[in-house]
Amino acid sequence: MPAKPKVLVTRKLPPVVEARLARDFDPSFNDDDHIFSAEELVARAADADAIMPCHTENLSAEVIAALPDRLRIIANFSVGYDHVDVAAARDRGIAVTNTPDVLSDATAEIALLLMLGAARRASEGERLVRSGNWRDWSPSFMVGRQMTGKRLGIIGLGRVGSIVAKRARGFEMEIHYHGRHRLPAAQEAGAHYHERLEELLPVCDFLSLHCPATPETKGLMNAERLALLPDGAILVNAARGALVDDDALIAALMEGRLAAAGLDVFNNEPAIDARYAQLENTFLLPHIGSATQETREAMGNRAIDNLSAFFSGEEPLDRVA
Ligand code: DGY
Repeated sequence: MPAKPKVLVTRKLPPVVEARLARDFDPSFNDDDHIFSAEELVARAADADAIMPCHTENLSAEVIAALPDRLRIIANFSVGYDHVDVAAARDRGIAVTNTPDVLSDATAEIALLLMLGAARRASEGERLVRSGNWRDWSPSFMVGRQMTGKRLGIIGLGRVGSIVAKRARGFEMEIHYHGRHRLPAAQEAGAHYHERLEELLPVCDFLSLHCPATPETKGLMNAERLALLPDGAILVNAARGALVDDDALIAALMEGRLAAAGLDVFNNEPAIDARYAQLENTFLLPHIGSATQETREAMGNRAIDNLSAFFSGEEPLDRVA
């Protein structure tokens, strides 16, 4: 019987996922779930045929150059793969896969939570109740913004964005979107397309980001673009922190030009810009878009499906390089 491929698993995965890996592969697990330094990652990969990393590992060109020749695939436990230098992997003939679809519902739920949490001042309210300092109720107490019936702008009406749109229709929101291409009518489902982002922004009471982090989208929401949002707009981000220019967003929130922001992802996680936590008009979560048991198991199974296909000589379903 041929030896099972050796798979370096960088983080602790759900038990059912680790059990399947142990059945079908020769895995090396990370039982205490610490984050590998680049050096440790390279050292542990020395006898691996595959790596199953998360977005917490930076597979830079330098790391990829240091991987052994036997390493043939990076099967990400994530839909985003901005932590992998895909060009460097391609140059070395290393395949790269991701886990689309299976986390779209969970991530869309978090985008909705961010909208509601930011609009209805949920963090502030929760802090007040927990602190024991809640003293009163009045007509002007903790007044927020209503989501129902407002205009929602979505950048990237793809897998996650389209589910956000569908759920938001339950709040009678009017959906607007921008993307590289206009979608067929059935996929638009009545959403208004804006060919230029600059045309979308002025019609957004809420703006939700759902595009990948690439060199082109880094700092997409900069000062100029934030200034195009209507006064009192709310921005939410459940995609990647890199899409936002922190200085510009924090300035808009401090000046009150934006009513609030709901953020699940940040630049430089988890050492995020400390000013976000000092603002009352932010609703902040620790990158938990895909953090449901069902979804994390599905992500693991999808990554294993990709590994299994690859080592059986088939094209993995989710090959991105
Ligand atoms: C993803 O899959 O990209 C999530 O953000 C978790 O990494």
